[in-house]
Amino acid sequence: MQWIATWPENFDPVSYPPSVLGEVIQYKMTKIFRAGNESGGVFPLIHQGELLGLLGLKSAKATYFQPGLVAWIQAYVDMATTDLAHEKGRADAIETAHKINRLLHSTRKLQDALPSALDLLTGMTEADAATVLRFNPASRRLDLLAARGLESRTQAKIYLYPDDGLAGQSAESRQTVKIEDLQTLQPAIWQADYLSKEGFRGYLAFPLICNDNLQGVIELLWRRPKNAVPLMLDDISRSAEVIAYSLERTLILEDLQRRNDELTSTCNATIEGLSRALELRDLETEGHTRRVSELALRLAAKMDVPAEQHEILQQGALLHDIGKLGIPDAILLKPGSLTPQEWKVMQQHPLYAYSILAPIVSLRESLDIPLYHHERWDGSGYPYGLVGEQIPLSAQLFAVVDVYDALTSDRPYRPAWPRSQAIEYLREQAGIQFSPVVVKHFLELLEDLK
Ligand code: C2E
Ligand code: SIN
Ligand code: SIN
Ligand code: FE
Ligand code: FE
Repeated sequence: MQWIATWPENFDPVSYPPSVLGEVIQYKMTKIFRAGNESGGVFPLIHQGELLGLLGLKSAKATYFQPGLVAWIQAYVDMATTDLAHEKGRADAIETAHKINRLLHSTRKLQDALPSALDLLTGMTEADAATVLRFNPASRRLDLLAARGLESRTQAKIYLYPDDGLAGQSAESRQTVKIEDLQTLQPAIWQADYLSKEGFRGYLAFPLICNDNLQGVIELLWRRPKNAVPLMLDDISRSAEVIAYSLERTLILEDLQRRNDELTSTCNATIEGLSRALELRDLETEGHTRRVSELALRLAAKMDVPAEQHEILQQGALLHDIGKLGIPDAILLKPGSLTPQEWKVMQQHPLYAYSILAPIVSLRESLDIPLYHHERWDGSGYPYGLVGEQIPLSAQLFAVVDVYDALTSDRPYRPAWPRSQAIEYLREQAGIQFSPVVVKHFLELLEDLK
C-alpha cells in the first residue's frame, strides 16, 4: 500500500505510527492517535466492505481531533470513498470490456469464447451465474448460446423456452429487467420461481443491441438479493455492447459461410448436370469425360501443377466439350467424315463452351480447357491458332489426354485405335500438335499406370 496523494506536498507520510496503520487496515476502523504535541487520525476508505485506501490527517495540536470533528470528517470520507469506488469501478468495467473484446475477436467460433467472457463479466459484477441468449430472427426465438454457473438440468429446464421468461421480456421490450429478489417477485413467473428454487435471488437481464438490431440477451444471477444500481448497469453495458457486436459479426460470418456452401454445392451440381447433359447427347463418348478428367489430374500432379489448380483443372476437363451441345446431331453423330461446311460448324464448339460457361462466375477460372483444348503447338489449331506457350498449360496438357482417349475409343466416324497406335501418334505429334514436354510426361504416366 502506498499514499497516492499528500498535502502539503513535502509531508512525510511515514510519520504515522505503523501500529496505527496496521490496526486501521486490520479492523477497518477509524483510529485517532496522539504523539507528543501532535495528534492524528487515520480513516479507512471502505466501499461495500472492501478497503480501498486510507486517509491520514495530522495536526500540530494535541487535542485537535474532537468527536464532532471526527464525525464530520467521517461523513466526508464516506462521500469521497463512493467517488473513489466509482472511479475504480469504471476503470474495472472498461478493462473487462476490453478483455472481452479481445477474447471474442481472437476466436473464429464465438461459442468457444463466450464462457470465458461470461467469467469476466461475473467476476466484475460478482454474479454467481450468467447466460448469453441469442435472438434468432428467423424463428423469432431466443436460443441459449452459453451459460456459466448453471447446472445442466437447470439449463435444460429453463432454457427450452426462454422466450416465455424474464429474458424474453427483456428482448421484447429491449429494456433491462431488474429483479432485486426472485423470491418475492409478484406476480410469480415460472422461470423466476424455478430459479429461486435453485437458490438464485438477484436477477438482471440486459438486452444486446447492435446497430438497432436485437442480437440477444445477457442474464446475470446472484445467490443473494441484488439491487442493480444504475452505475452497475453502465458498467455492464460496456461489455454488453462488445458482446452484441460480436454476435452480429459472427451472424454475418455464419451467413456468408452458409451462402458460400450453398453456392459451392449449387456450382458442383451445375457442373455435374452440364457434363451429364453432354453424355446424354453424345452417347458414344460415355465415360470419356470421366476418364479424361482423371487422367488430366494425374498428369497435372506428375507435372507438379500446384494443388490449388487441381479443382479448376478437373472442372475444366469435365466441361471441356460442353460446347458440343450446340452442334447438330447430323454433324456430331455423322458416321463418316465431315464436309468442309460441317467441319466449320464443328470448330465452333470451343466458342460455344465459352458462351455457355462464362456467365457462371464460379466457373470462369475453369474456362481455359473448354476454350483452348483444340489449339495446336504449331499454331494450326482452333479457334485462335495460338502457338506453343501461348496456349495455357492446362489446355496443352488436356489436349494430349483428350486425343489419346478419343483415339482409343470408338467414334461414330471410326472404330477405336489400338493403344500402341495411339501412343505412336502422340510421339509423332510431339512438337507439332502437342507440347513435347507434356507428351513426354504423359507417355511416362501411361508406363506408370500399366
Ligand atoms: P473427338 O472425336 O472427341 O476427337 C477429339 C480429338 O481427337 C480430335 O479433335 C482430334 O484431334 C483427335 N482425333 C480423334 N479421332 C481422330 C482420328 O481418327 N485421327 C486423328 N489424327 N485424330 C483424331 P478434332 O480433330 O479437332 O475434332 C474435334 C471433334 O470433331 C471430334 O471430337 C469429333 O467430335 C468431331 N470430328 C472430327 N473429325 C470427325 C469426322 O471425321 N467425322 C465426324 N462425324 N466427326 C468428326
Ligand atoms: C465428352 O464426353 O467429353 C464429349 C465427347 C468427346 O470429347 O469425345
Ligand atoms: C472435341 O472437343 O470435340 C474433340 C476433342 C474432345 O473430345 O474434347
Ligand atoms: Fe473438343
Ligand atoms: Fe473430348
